[in-house]
Amino acid sequence: DWNMPDYIGEAVQKIREQVGTDEVILGLSGGVDSSVAAALIHRAIGDQLTCVFVDHGLLRKDEGKMVMDMFSKNLGVKVIRIDAEDQFMGHLAGVTDPEQKRKIIGREFVEVFQVEAGKLSNARWLAQGTIYPDVIESAGKGKKGQTIKSHHNVGGLPETLNLKLLEPLRELFKDEVRKLGVALGLPHDMVYRHPFPGPGLGVRILGEVKKEYADLLREADAIFIEELRNTPFELPAVAGIDPGKAPTNWYEATSQAFAVFLPVKSVGVMGDGRTYEYVVALRAVQTLDFMTAQWAHLPHSLLGKVSNRIINEVRGLNRVVYDISGKPPATIEWE
Ligand code: XMP
Repeated sequence: DWNMPDYIGEAVQKIREQVGTDEVILGLSGGVDSSVAAALIHRAIGDQLTCVFVDHGLLRKDEGKMVMDMFSKNLGVKVIRIDAEDQFMGHLAGVTDPEQKRKIIGREFVEVFQVEAGKLSNARWLAQGTIYPDVIESAGKGKKGQTIKSHHNVGGLPETLNLKLLEPLRELFKDEVRKLGVALGLPHDMVYRHPFPGPGLGVRILGEVKKEYADLLREADAIFIEELRNTPFELPAVAGIDPGKAPTNWYEATSQAFAVFLPVKSVGVMGDGRTYEYVVALRAVQTLDFMTAQWAHLPHSLLGKVSNRIINEVRGLNRVVYDISGKPPATIEWE
């Protein structure tokens, strides 16, 4: 059984012994793992930790503000926010191939991070939110020699930076990371968020990535997520199921949910006028391991409300569709 205060005490001690008086840098992505790693390391060494948060312009709505508020304002962590939207959009202009887009986003990320790391000339350590399943996954990949997708995470940096690796979550499973995050003072909603891919909205805008598309997608996605959170999930009373552990809303009842931008225009009507605007697809899945997934049977009333709100509130979108494909044969992201 896991005793949280003891665990935190030991982990803090270990980090202090490992880094001594050295400075540590950490790439904060807004995701659960890097956030919990940051909170734990900050607990251990305070201002010896500097976080670098790269805003590539492909984040969800208000994400940058949320990260800065949580770490800088609430926890007092040193965070440098880099606004690199123009740089990323510039390099992505005209590129439509999904693998190519991923490569560019990954490469620019390393580039930006490296420049910032270079400025912190005293840094000796690079901290990462690597968790146990990541360790297993990379070992497995090596053995089978398979390349699936060029997964971009905050990882992949160490070879290009001359820093030692600090990975305090390496032995933990996701549910343990989440519990640790809550115990360290991170908000419950943040720690229990759906996964979000490293290349961000870059894999949710089909074809060429443009700021205009990212802005429309951010608004549509935020409406979808808000309605999922606000719609109660009612589980039929089943013997043996602990109601305290059941999901209470549709956000909790899905494993991942998001909007996808389709660079396709279709005709619509609004008032007396004709519109010719873009389409978004909604995707919501249920899965245990993300290797296979079922599309979520969201209530029609919820889908209807999301569709109405998106079309009424987001100028530039006039059609909403719902993805009813399982994985396999489809994937969760559309790319
Ligand atoms: P697919 O689309 O392959 O996605 O069914 C499976 C899960 O992986 C996530 N995903 C990523 N996560 N970096 C990440 O950190 C990536 O490059 C990446 N690509 C896909 C996806 O969101 C889903 O949860």
